[in-house]
Amino acid sequence: MNDPVFLNIKKENMNIRPRRNRKNAAIRAMVEETQLGPQHLIYPLFLKDGKNIREEVASLPGNYRWSIDQLLPEFEKWMNLGIMTFDLFPAVDEHLKDQIGSYSYADENFYLHSIRTLKEKFPEAVLMSDVALDPYSSDGHDGLVVDGKIVNDPTLDILGRMSVAQAQAGIDIIGPSDMMDGRVGFIRDELDAAGFQDVSIMSYTAKYASAFYGPFRDALNSAPKSGDKKTYQMNPANKREALIEAELDIAEGADFIMVKPALCYLDIIHLLKENFATPVTAYNVSGECAMVYAAAKNGWLDYDRAVMEMLLSIRRAGADGILTYFAPDAARMMK
Ligand code: PBG
Repeated sequence: MNDPVFLNIKKENMNIRPRRNRKNAAIRAMVEETQLGPQHLIYPLFLKDGKNIREEVASLPGNYRWSIDQLLPEFEKWMNLGIMTFDLFPAVDEHLKDQIGSYSYADENFYLHSIRTLKEKFPEAVLMSDVALDPYSSDGHDGLVVDGKIVNDPTLDILGRMSVAQAQAGIDIIGPSDMMDGRVGFIRDELDAAGFQDVSIMSYTAKYASAFYGPFRDALNSAPKSGDKKTYQMNPANKREALIEAELDIAEGADFIMVKPALCYLDIIHLLKENFATPVTAYNVSGECAMVYAAAKNGWLDYDRAVMEMLLSIRRAGADGILTYFAPDAARMMK
């Protein structure tokens, strides 16, 4: 972006009145700087094995753990609203979890079967996955836990297998959310070696150790069993470190770089947008959405206006795409 042109405002220039460009809807629309449409939205969904399941996530009202049969008719409605991209997360039964997350790439994994079904029914939809150990791990961490430590390189092999299994099922975009070092390059190599050059990678590039993931961890029952995620997720105090992460991810082959969460990190979105040509996405995470649901329910906020202002601000900061639980409501408001 070019530097803004500053007016050298003096007392004799006081005939300049910015309000003239806000005086009616047509002029406001003409000078509007940021666009927000359904094409910018990515809707995160929670999948569950079984039939006839539609369990509401208490802290994210209006969002459910879906079995595939219940999901299909809804999927069509969302697509009719113009939402084309969906990020899928598995809610895995506790008895299928182990220390190495082996269910994540097992043939019988319902999540892989659901991807296959969705791709068959909606070939024009863009399906994005989650690649991390936590929903499958009995330790609830994104990497392997060895002697109480989250180890990096031994985790990569499982992330690679998971990615190839998802690509075989028909996923369009792989979403590594684990923050292990070197995983984008490792996954890229594994995908290419298996013949999946066209499968994209949206890297969780600057993912912070945030308090705002609570409702998501409730939805998947994926909270760490001990410790926290501070040895792999970023310190909320850090900004320049996001540049290192972005440079590495791009060099390793990321097609999109993501900032997560979005609202407390608008400066990071802006920073990556200004410094890199790779498209930037932002994850408007569960806790950020839960705050609005709760306040609106109490009558403390106007839900529609708050949602649109948040999404617009994330776009204004520089996000090309936004992952948000508000996607269907927002798309409805845009109609
Ligand atoms: C896990 C993962 C998390 C989210 C997406 N992928 C949670 C975490 O890192 O603990 C959070 C999404 C949200 O809060 O909406 N790899």
